[in-house]
Amino acid sequence: MDILQVKDLHKTYPGKVVTHALTDIHLTIGKGEFVGIMGPSGSGKTTLLNMVSTIDRPSSGEVNINGQNPYLMKKKDLAAFRRRQLGFVFQDFNLLDTLTVAENIVLPLTLDNRKLSEMDRKLEEVATRLGIKDILGKRVYEISGGQRQRTAIARAVITSPVLLLADEPTGSLDSNASRVVMESLAEINEREGTTLMLVTHDPLAASYCQRIVFIKDGKLAAEIHRGDNRQTFFQNIIDTLSFWGGNTNELSSIRV
Ligand SMILES: Nc1ncnc2c1ncn2[C@@H]1O[C@H](COP(=O)(O)OP(=O)(O)OP(=O)(O)O)[C@@H](O)[C@H]1O
Ligand SMILES: [Mg+2]
Repeated sequence: MDILQVKDLHKTYPGKVVTHALTDIHLTIGKGEFVGIMGPSGSGKTTLLNMVSTIDRPSSGEVNINGQNPYLMKKKDLAAFRRRQLGFVFQDFNLLDTLTVAENIVLPLTLDNRKLSEMDRKLEEVATRLGIKDILGKRVYEISGGQRQRTAIARAVITSPVLLLADEPTGSLDSNASRVVMESLAEINEREGTTLMLVTHDPLAASYCQRIVFIKDGKLAAEIHRGDNRQTFFQNIIDTLSFWGGNTNELSSIRV
């Protein structure tokens, strides 16, 4: 079954100079897939993610998530749909600084008026899985970047979303914290079967995906699949990036 179907998607930003951010995008993501989106800066990666996450509206074309078109929903239904079916992880974490780690993680359940016992059970479950049980009582400003991102992931998955969307989740992290975050995402994908769509510049982070879709100038440019070997895939990602004009200075931080 397909979790995401993007058909004939176009996005133009009006302004003094009109920007054709996305042109004729077709993309299907099956249930349980872990798909990466790569491409040079300004190629349209975030725009694509924003169309899928319903943060912004397509100029034309269709988006279906789990069989439903969010753009045809009423405002109230859309809010519930996003809260229950989608999970979001951002580069800058988007946590509430004055709340504790635990309070941040259960926030989506609080907004959905779930029972306290259910919240406690789920909190325990996701915090264990992400290795942040011992910091649940800390406030966000008291924890590291990697712990913040794992907190954000815990918050994103506590509702068991059908689709988890991540925009540069390792963009603010050092290589060790990045690795832990990518391993966490890969584990959520494998264990829970959560479908993932991840935007990243980082070839090493991308090597945790099963498939990478490359965008250039708002158009799909290439697609590669991971075999059994992450090392080989990593090399393949680098080759594809350099072929499609990925920034070479992005490759200077290679660490395997
Ligand atoms: N709100 C907006 N209004 C006008 N133009 C925009 C807007 N958002 C993005 N753009 C333009 O659309 C194009 C695609 O931008 P987008 O943010 O999707 O790129 P990206 O691939 O995510 O880049 P990066 O890797 O730097 O994050 C760019 O030319 C950008 O300037
Ligand atoms: Mg972006």
